[in-house]
Amino acid sequence: LNEIEMDASIVIGEGEIDDAPMLYIGEKVGSGIGKQLDIAVDPIEGTTPTANGQQNGMTVLAVAPEGDLLHAPDMYMKKMAVGPKAKGKINLQAPLIDNLEAIAKANGKTIDELQVLVQERPRHDKLVDEIREAGAKVQLFLDGDVVYTLATCIESSGVDLFIGTGGAPEGVVGAVAVKAFGGDMQAQLLPKDEVEVKRCQEMGLDNPAKILSLDDLVKSDDCLFVATGITDSLILPGLKVGKNTIESHSMLIHGEERKVRYINTLHNIE
Ligand code: FBP
Repeated sequence: LNEIEMDASIVIGEGEIDDAPMLYIGEKVGSGIGKQLDIAVDPIEGTTPTANGQQNGMTVLAVAPEGDLLHAPDMYMKKMAVGPKAKGKINLQAPLIDNLEAIAKANGKTIDELQVLVQERPRHDKLVDEIREAGAKVQLFLDGDVVYTLATCIESSGVDLFIGTGGAPEGVVGAVAVKAFGGDMQAQLLPKDEVEVKRCQEMGLDNPAKILSLDDLVKSDDCLFVATGITDSLILPGLKVGKNTIESHSMLIHGEERKVRYINTLHNIE
């Protein structure tokens, strides 16, 4: 990052300067000359799958002009995301069935044809029951909600809705991907106590309970999402480690350009 001509700050990163030697919130990166940018980075999105060699370990990074990314504290966030066809049809405050009906109509499906992605956690048991009672199909995943937020925007994935509670930093990075792909997302921070409410306020979020629109999460279309696979996922192959080389696969998408670029790199490790 420091080799790039930009005047950028990490707004979502590895935590506070006291706990993280680099990529900490507030760290300045880049040459210091050029565009003023905010960067949200998760060097390992999916630490468990990375450690266990399971699917969905990836490095993710999102960039937008200074002030255009929500400065999300590291806490839980309720979120829902859909692809471009259902843009403008979701409402986090409305009953689930109303959302499913609206998404089904927008996507030209019946409710029982909808595929809904939910992270497999006990906190989602009630939500999963509700989705199944409505007749839609539930696909459970273990980790890595950025990739599944993004999957809603890839028609061939067959995913119609991503819903549930996960990390707020992953929510903002996922929102940049959704924005760049032309989809839609809504979210709400879930501070668990007074300390977390205070943390939100310190980060400039006066009303932490606010329902956040996609534009609240990412203000500008001038935003960039980059992911590099660590382990295999729906969107990217993982790292291929050879005797003298490591092969990596990355994906880049810019919110104004709307073209997905893939970069396949052989890194010489000798
Ligand atoms: P990490 O990168 O911190 O391991 O997060 C992985 C992840 O699955 C996220 O994608 C998701 O938002 C979060 O964990 C959910 O948190 P929890 O594991 O506490 O349910």
